[in-house]
Amino acid sequence: MTDPMKKLPDQQTQDEGPTPTPDSQPIVMHVAKPGSTSSNQEPGESGTGLSGFFKRVLSQPNDSTQKTLLVTVIMCLVCSVVVSAAAVLLRPTQAANAALDRKRNIVQVAGLLQEGGDVEAAFKNVESRIVDLDTGEFTDQFNGVSYDQYAAASDPAISSALNKDQDIAGIGRRAQFAEVYLIGGSDNYSQIVLPIHGLGLWSTLYGFVSLENDLTTISGLKFYNHAETPGLGGEVDNPVWQEKWQGKQAFDSAGNLKIEVVKGVVVPGSSGEAWQVDGLAGATLTSRGVSQLLRFWLDENGFGSFLKNLKQGGTS
Ligand SMILES: Cc1cc2nc3c(=O)[nH]c(=O)nc-3n(C[C@H](O)[C@H](O)[C@H](O)COP(=O)(O)O)c2cc1C
Repeated sequence: MTDPMKKLPDQQTQDEGPTPTPDSQPIVMHVAKPGSTSSNQEPGESGTGLSGFFKRVLSQPNDSTQKTLLVTVIMCLVCSVVVSAAAVLLRPTQAANAALDRKRNIVQVAGLLQEGGDVEAAFKNVESRIVDLDTGEFTDQFNGVSYDQYAAASDPAISSALNKDQDIAGIGRRAQFAEVYLIGGSDNYSQIVLPIHGLGLWSTLYGFVSLENDLTTISGLKFYNHAETPGLGGEVDNPVWQEKWQGKQAFDSAGNLKIEVVKGVVVPGSSGEAWQVDGLAGATLTSRGVSQLLRFWLDENGFGSFLKNLKQGGTS
């Protein structure tokens, strides 16, 4: 039983001053001499400034509003510091992984990487060069500087807007420079890998096309980033469909751009068999997007003049 006469610590009697209402708190002023602590301070409630505030709030019951808010703010600050530190510390690793992934895609599309093979070893024989798409010439402008073609496409100084007739790939703007990869080096390349991108149904597809050294025969096509529907447009990743590209002719013997994805299947023995590829079932729009983006990049607004120069043995 509680002794009714025994005072609880917070209880006050008439002669101790006015009883605080629920809305009002007694104001207690501690005047401390500089360099000293107040002799009236209770343990757990003591201190001035920020540390005093923390001690006071943290000594409150767990369900108090002030303590809940303070703990929430502290948790948010701690989490944001951890996330920011992780982002900064992991940046070099992320960049290294992105570079390795790019190399993997390049050697894969060129058919140089066996299952479980060493990407760096396969990439050893690959020379990367920057091409000025306006002139079709190699350039040393970005020597030693990492160049991001997709970031450059939004820089008006080194990109241009495409008009409706030009923009069959649905990309809006095209960067002036692009990085290409010569398998075996620029003097004696066996294949050349070109970056390509363009609109499918739901997304922009990013990938690479690889051409044999006749600069006409396709040796591989691969997309490494897109958001088409799995099982429909997403079948661009299906190895069976990717294999259909191998050996297809991008140009005819007169140099006219011919490559296209057809709706349905290519008629065996037809005149177009050399440059036509089966469409993806139930994904005509993605198939058309792939066809259009490839035609864009192999034509005059893409790598057209570069490929022409290269065919004539020039560009370096
Ligand atoms: C949920 C959903 C997702 C779809 N995803 C794709 C897609 O990724 N690519 C595509 O070309 N068509 C996609 N389609 C189908 C298109 O809307 C369109 O019907 C189709 O491209 C026509 O192809 P078809 O003529 O071969 O049937 C999707 C349809 C639905 C309902």
